[in-house]
Amino acid sequence: MLSTPVSVRMDGDVAWVEIDSPPVNATSTAVRAGVMSAIEQVQGARVAVLICAGKTWVAGGDMSEFDRPAEEPHLPDVVQALEDSATPFVAAMHGTVLGGGFEIAMGCAWRIAAAGTRFGLPEVNVGLIPGAGGTQRAPRLVGMEPAIDLACRGKMIEASTMLGYGGVDVVAEDVRAAATDFVTSLPERPKAVSQRDVPPFEAQILEETKASLQAKSKGQKSPLENLKALGWAMEPFAKGQPKERALHLALRQSEESRALRYAFFAERAVARPDAISGAKARSVSNVAVVGGGLMGAGIAWACLNAGLSVVLIERDAEQAQAAEGRVAALGQGALKRGKLDAAGLAATLAGFTATADYADAAKVDLAIEAVFEDLDAKRAVFAQLDAALGPDAILATNTSYLDPELIFEGISNPARCVGLHFFSPAHIMKLLEIVRTPATSAEVLATGFALGKRLRKVSVLSGICDGFIGNRMLAAYRREMEYLLADGALPHEVDTAMRAAGYPMGPCELQDLTGLQIAWANRKRQAADRSEEERYFDLFDDLCEAGRLGQRAGKGWYRYNDGDRTPKRDPEVEEMIVAWSAKHGIIRRSFSMEEIQTRILAVLANEGARIVEEGIAERAEDVDMVQIHGYGFPRRRGGVMHLAAERGWDHVGATMRQVAEESPKSWVLSKAAEDN
Ligand code: NAI
Repeated sequence: MLSTPVSVRMDGDVAWVEIDSPPVNATSTAVRAGVMSAIEQVQGARVAVLICAGKTWVAGGDMSEFDRPAEEPHLPDVVQALEDSATPFVAAMHGTVLGGGFEIAMGCAWRIAAAGTRFGLPEVNVGLIPGAGGTQRAPRLVGMEPAIDLACRGKMIEASTMLGYGGVDVVAEDVRAAATDFVTSLPERPKAVSQRDVPPFEAQILEETKASLQAKSKGQKSPLENLKALGWAMEPFAKGQPKERALHLALRQSEESRALRYAFFAERAVARPDAISGAKARSVSNVAVVGGGLMGAGIAWACLNAGLSVVLIERDAEQAQAAEGRVAALGQGALKRGKLDAAGLAATLAGFTATADYADAAKVDLAIEAVFEDLDAKRAVFAQLDAALGPDAILATNTSYLDPELIFEGISNPARCVGLHFFSPAHIMKLLEIVRTPATSAEVLATGFALGKRLRKVSVLSGICDGFIGNRMLAAYRREMEYLLADGALPHEVDTAMRAAGYPMGPCELQDLTGLQIAWANRKRQAADRSEEERYFDLFDDLCEAGRLGQRAGKGWYRYNDGDRTPKRDPEVEEMIVAWSAKHGIIRRSFSMEEIQTRILAVLANEGARIVEEGIAERAEDVDMVQIHGYGFPRRRGGVMHLAAERGWDHVGATMRQVAEESPKSWVLSKAAEDN
């Protein structure tokens, strides 16, 4: 027989009910059943204390159960049974009390928390609302405004603040001792939370919150669904609670929640690729960054911020000073935004030196190169690092497009060489692509992942191909954008469609923002290998040659009036596009918004599938996390691979085959697109 995760121990007339279900005592079916049976067992006791073993109290639901129909006993019934129990319950909490955990706590008569305990209703982050009275009891217990923060904004509230809101009765260092004291002289049993009235609040709060959530939620529906459910708390509990439950169950099936749950699990999966299983990360405390331009300065600041010491190496003393200024400016920015205080900034910068002498970096554990995107320049840097650093120091390149194997050619001990591809701005963007060469050791990869975690990045493993995972996907995206322009769409039509698909920007406006020159340089680099038969939209090169390099040049795919960053449609570009089609004998046709979206998503999914099929990525989740954390793909849609799986590869494959047929010899079909 399986041991139950919930045990009951009698101590005189006090029952101690303990949940012990590692890792986080989630409200799985077994835990719910265990609590239900414990409630029966404690009847007759004067009071029951509900405690948890391990590092936290009940920290949420078991999300792996959400794909199946809900199983009995249902959590709302468990919470209700706690509330109705003749023997009153004391929740004695520590760690994080989240979601179903907080709902259970609100069913108890009293709440005691260890100092530092945090409370939350994070269902909103996975596209849900609480389903066991969370939105109905929280406003009654703590008031509407804190309940909005918890349920709509996914904020956590710390025990001492919770005490002020009346959400807990006691905060103590040692929660078991405090519970023991508490039960010796019990106060009068308070009214059940579900039977209380919501404390008065300013009526306009709900409307104001609605407007602010709408503005900030980027199309995600769950913040507003939570607000709607909180509103039901103004009705009797017996009316509001069933509505909450029904909405919770309906949302479990929603596209948004499925996508957000997928993203939640995918983030955890990509951090543990098969390639590092069993490998132990080395400790890293001293880092060298070579090249302190846009990327190098950002990488240096990110490392400093994570408590690492950084030596920044530049070409000469003058450049070293300039780079030092860039890092200091990032520090000042953090200070201004209140990320740290003056003393914290001084302490952080104390671990920083800028130099032109490789000898100053002799003892570092890891060096990250971020010099110009030029093979010879990078090779020269690594030759110097090879000579100056210890034989085991990890050597990393931040190259975007060059082949790391060529960059590292001739370096001693190539097992220590790896790509660490940051995204701009490097101290802000979440994504880190960890690029392995055939020689990179598992230990070095594991160290890369540990570093990524320390820098609070989402790290994704990539093999070597042009552009790695992210920029290769971007290239496919842009190519389809160009074919759409060639065949009849205009830049604003493509951009509008992709914004509507959830991207913060469309591909044309984004390229204008970052500048067309990187793509231009890549096109020149790839020219020699480009097949004559492949469709090539050389209007792009014409734009670049005409100085239409994007926003900074005042014109690109759009035109920008003095100092105004809003893209304006430019008749000149549109005429150039139409003329290009005519010159190539293309009869332009119109593309609906939906057609643009479907085609681009099919192209992206096809490229992603190829990346997985070629073994560049270990799994589809890697592709999706790159898209979400590096390229603005809306998290609420999960990622292109998730979307393709949801829509069905038969649909995606058919679209992709059509796209490929319309531009012969220009696309390589993935097996997924070919076979479905
Ligand atoms: P940048 O031009 O802003 O900075 C390059 C820096 O390297 C300059 O400060 C330069 O003085 C220094 N440098 C050049 N040769 C050097 C040498 N031999 N020794 C020491 N320092 C040297 O360039 P950026 O944008 O920072 O790019 C650097 C690298 O990062 C490139 O490989 C680029 O492809 C990659 N990258 C760039 C991204 C971006 O968005 N700009 C994103 C991801 C990667």
